Amino acid sequence: MTLRIGIVGTGWFSRVHADLLAGMEGVRVAAVCGTSEEKALMFASNYPGATGYSRFTEMLDSQKLDAVYLCIPPMAHGQMELELIDRAIPFFVEKPLSTNLQTPQDILDQLQKKPVVHAVGYHFRYKETIQRLKASLSGQTIGMVMGAWMGDMPQVAWWRKQEGSGGQFIEQTTHIVDLLRYTAGEVEEVYAAYGNRVVQGQYENVTVHDVGTVSMKLESGIIATVSNTCILPGGVGQVELRLYTNNGILDWSPDRLEISTPGVRTTYTGTDNPYAAEAGAFIHALRTGDTSRILSDYSDAYKTQTVTCAALESAMTGKPVRISE
Ligand SMILES: NC(=O)c1ccc[n+]([C@@H]2O[C@H](COP(=O)([O-])OP(=O)(O)OC[C@H]3O[C@@H](n4cnc5c(N)ncnc54)[C@H](O)[C@@H]3O)[C@@H](O)[C@H]2O)c1
Repeated sequence: MTLRIGIVGTGWFSRVHADLLAGMEGVRVAAVCGTSEEKALMFASNYPGATGYSRFTEMLDSQKLDAVYLCIPPMAHGQMELELIDRAIPFFVEKPLSTNLQTPQDILDQLQKKPVVHAVGYHFRYKETIQRLKASLSGQTIGMVMGAWMGDMPQVAWWRKQEGSGGQFIEQTTHIVDLLRYTAGEVEEVYAAYGNRVVQGQYENVTVHDVGTVSMKLESGIIATVSNTCILPGGVGQVELRLYTNNGILDWSPDRLEISTPGVRTTYTGTDNPYAAEAGAFIHALRTGDTSRILSDYSDAYKTQTVTCAALESAMTGKPVRISE
């Protein structure tokens, strides 16, 4: 049976997902919803037989969809997820879950009452190097973790507004926080310092911070710091997670993993496409009901959102924030 998928959002990342889905056996991009009919129709024209809509409920009323991909900015989450759960339609949602914690809390409550197959777009979990890193931690004791997301400012208007994106730590660096949790365990307390150095004077209407460091205590006693900036010029950047253990250093970035132990340094390159593995896991779950290949679900992603939102609260109050259960 051919699976019919709806896509919400007509931006960069909708295209990445839609192209992957359209290339899969027995999967069809059947409908697209955008902020205008024109944009939706234009996007839909890339996928044979797809229809464009400007209203989400109209798309759901007129098409029988097997799942919907939500590739929308952080501030646009809420009603769509609730509508999909209400109609028992499976969904894939891009990270972050929202700009805040209340919206995902409401969605999670509904999901727990009316479960549907779903997945969240923390794609780095699907990288072979992350799986290798996790496996090689067996028998080691992690002491500290350092992570970073150092880059330029994305040029979409919603990103530069605090109420649009939630800021860099919630919007982008969330990937590193998610990997920290995935590899080293749950966070108990955060303390954050954020600042404004460059971009507020460089572009109009910027209300997000452009530098920040978040110190974290994990439940196990591991200490972690994750830093970010969006002041760099395009083409220069660092995305990384480094774990320090009693055996040595595990140094991960999206295109490689380097493991250093006394006298031995081993490098693994990561050329696999984690988005393809992510889509494969979700489509497999739709076909079979077996969700075991999905590496990020809503309740787990909610925990990552709890940490990134606590970091914002700490930066605003100047006080450490404990993560509540
Ligand atoms: N996992 C990853 O590697 C990755 C990479 C890029 C983006 N993303 C995430 O994907 C999401 C979208 O990012 P993007 O780069 O495609 O952004 P974008 O600005 O290019 O596209 C966003 C789309 O959503 C539409 N939109 C805006 N508000 C809407 C609303 N209220 N209802 C319906 N549609 C609305 C916009 O018109 C646009 O088509 C973000 O949450 C981003 O963090 C994830």
